[in-house]
Amino acid sequence: MKRFLLPTEVISGPGCIQELKRFIKEGDKVALITDSFLVKIGVAEKVEEVLKNIGATSQIFDDIPPNPHAEVVGKCRAFVEDIGANVVVCLGGGSPMDVAKVVAMLANNEGTWEDYQWNMKQPANPPLTYIAIPTTSGTGSEVTKTAVIIDRNTKKGTGGDFFFAKGALLDPELMVSLPPMLTATTGIDAMTHAIEAYVGKNNQPFTDALALEAIGILAKYLPRAFSNGDDLLAREQVAIAAAMAGLAMDQSGLGIVHSMSGPLSSYYDVPHGLSNAVGLPYGMAYNIIAVPERLARIAEALGVDITGLSDREAAQAAVETVMDMMDDMQIPKDLNDYFMKYGADEGDIEKFAEESCKMFLMRNNPRNPQVKDIAEIFEAILK
Ligand SMILES: [Fe+2]
Repeated sequence: MKRFLLPTEVISGPGCIQELKRFIKEGDKVALITDSFLVKIGVAEKVEEVLKNIGATSQIFDDIPPNPHAEVVGKCRAFVEDIGANVVVCLGGGSPMDVAKVVAMLANNEGTWEDYQWNMKQPANPPLTYIAIPTTSGTGSEVTKTAVIIDRNTKKGTGGDFFFAKGALLDPELMVSLPPMLTATTGIDAMTHAIEAYVGKNNQPFTDALALEAIGILAKYLPRAFSNGDDLLAREQVAIAAAMAGLAMDQSGLGIVHSMSGPLSSYYDVPHGLSNAVGLPYGMAYNIIAVPERLARIAEALGVDITGLSDREAAQAAVETVMDMMDDMQIPKDLNDYFMKYGADEGDIEKFAEESCKMFLMRNNPRNPQVKDIAEIFEAILK
């Protein structure tokens, strides 16, 4: 059985945060969840201004680190309940967005986050109105029904239709301050979502269409957004592609690259976009034997002329094109620095390989992984 659902209203374009008025009314109490950097550079202030003009009051919670742990959820929930918010607006990347969607649900329901994350509890009530305003273009969290929170040393995704945002505002004017390297790595995260959804076992026509189009848009516009952060057209296109890729992966699944990313983020705190970027060419190459025809279609979407090439040759060209793209954007090719910093030893590689193979996401990978194969990839990435 296949299912596809998008209840989130997606609005894009320069200045579209003004459209908050479609979801928020005079007198609403808004919890504005963001991060301290966006407060410092004045981006959060722009959203506060729009809320003020609507006649809503807002208070900021900005204590959200990358790769958030369950304790952050507790703190943020207490904040939302203390201020009596009836609306949650999130401004930021995947980390604050994932915390915000969880907190919007918890604030209207009984029980702890642990009950929902680990004990399969289901909410009895609908969440508070939740609006997402992404400032990175990568995770796609603004259109997904999944929240990823680290607990018990596991980067664990929890999903449910109650996590869908009511609205997602993709405003490129709020994205111009994203530094080039973050633009590149978050954009490659989006590319990874599209590629893993497209080659995964649970692929279906709805998500295939979204994934292939997202790959094409990212191939064209991500290098432009990296080269010139003020290019609003490129920023908007990359944001739209990230949302499309987010939908594709949320509803069709991920695979080997995200499975390897799990332990890298949990144990070494590697930013999600970077760990995926470094792992992506390895993951694509590993899957060629299983889905050469699908990787050949990806090559086409990337703009490769595949005339006269076999599927296998075209798939290889897809891997090389992705590597060239990452080279152009100066993304590191390995994570040696993290390996050194965290005092890792041989045992980590074996442990990471075993954990990756057991991850739920890996079940969607088109090639069933062997621990020794995955250990070889970690060996190449980390040492
Ligand atoms: Fe991702």
